[in-house]
Amino acid sequence: MTKNATFLKDVNDGLSRNPKYISSHYFYDKAGDEIFQRIMDMPEYYLTNSELEIFSGQSEKIIDSFNIDKAEEFELIELGAGDGKKTQHLLKTLIDNNFKFKYIPVDISRNSLEVITDRMENLFPDLEILPQQGDYFEVLDDLFHSDKPKVILFIGSNLGNMPDETAAQFLQKISQHLKSNEKLLLGVDLIKSKDIVLPAYNDAAGITRDFNLNLLKRINAEFGANFNLENFEHAPEYTESEGIAKSFLRSKVKQTVYIKELDKSFSFDENEAIHTEISRKYNDDILNGLVADSQLEITAKFLDSKNYFADYILTKR
Ligand code: AVI
Repeated sequence: MTKNATFLKDVNDGLSRNPKYISSHYFYDKAGDEIFQRIMDMPEYYLTNSELEIFSGQSEKIIDSFNIDKAEEFELIELGAGDGKKTQHLLKTLIDNNFKFKYIPVDISRNSLEVITDRMENLFPDLEILPQQGDYFEVLDDLFHSDKPKVILFIGSNLGNMPDETAAQFLQKISQHLKSNEKLLLGVDLIKSKDIVLPAYNDAAGITRDFNLNLLKRINAEFGANFNLENFEHAPEYTESEGIAKSFLRSKVKQTVYIKELDKSFSFDENEAIHTEISRKYNDDILNGLVADSQLEITAKFLDSKNYFADYILTKR
């Protein structure tokens, strides 16, 4: 099935369900990538700055925890590489300390890969960069052909957009590919109060609302649908006890939407919502639960000064 056919099938299945659901996976077309860049610059979106503080202040310690032999070349594989603003601190410290490594950024978005490759080439002209385009779930198998030691980076709390079951399977898959003592550096947002988390997903300027509504714009543009964006509102939720921020698109009125490519209409009651995203927050217990069926164990943890965010080192037993 082509990418577009999978998207169309997921839209059809998701809008036929009760409650309705479309994955946040489909937020990221070119416009979605750009809106996400703006989200990362928002004052309310503390995640990026918290992790940036960890990378800019603790890169030496993070690298120590990798336990790498300087004489041997290794591969640093970054899954869902994004814009590289955080990773550049790690790369600089590795280079300054004469480590030998190749940097392999992996991203589904060709656009993001170009941005990160340009950034790193400009900053570090001697660094060997091998960008890989693809869904990181799918390309994982192709990345492990060489015998070189590996460190995997999966930062930015990207894990949090997966349901726990999927996240556990993903971590298991990574674990299966790693050799004993190899590491995964996993950056995740931590469970904290609603006063801090909810505004990150409900900013005053409405950038996150545009991010969520962009999904309907995409369906209109790609499948000839007639979603009227004025008739839907961005509705985020979070409870500290559950630790999961959820985003919905709620229908303001009773309405019917037609999707030409499916030749099918979908009806919405007033206040009926499409669930579009989960952003899970973690603690040690939750993460230990997710890696319970894998060979990974937490061997180090780096926090920002407010204890909002954690970069965990998970080591293959
Ligand atoms: C990419 N991901 C980790 C972001 C998050 O925080 O879940 C996506 C996002 N959604 C709304 N704002 C940001």
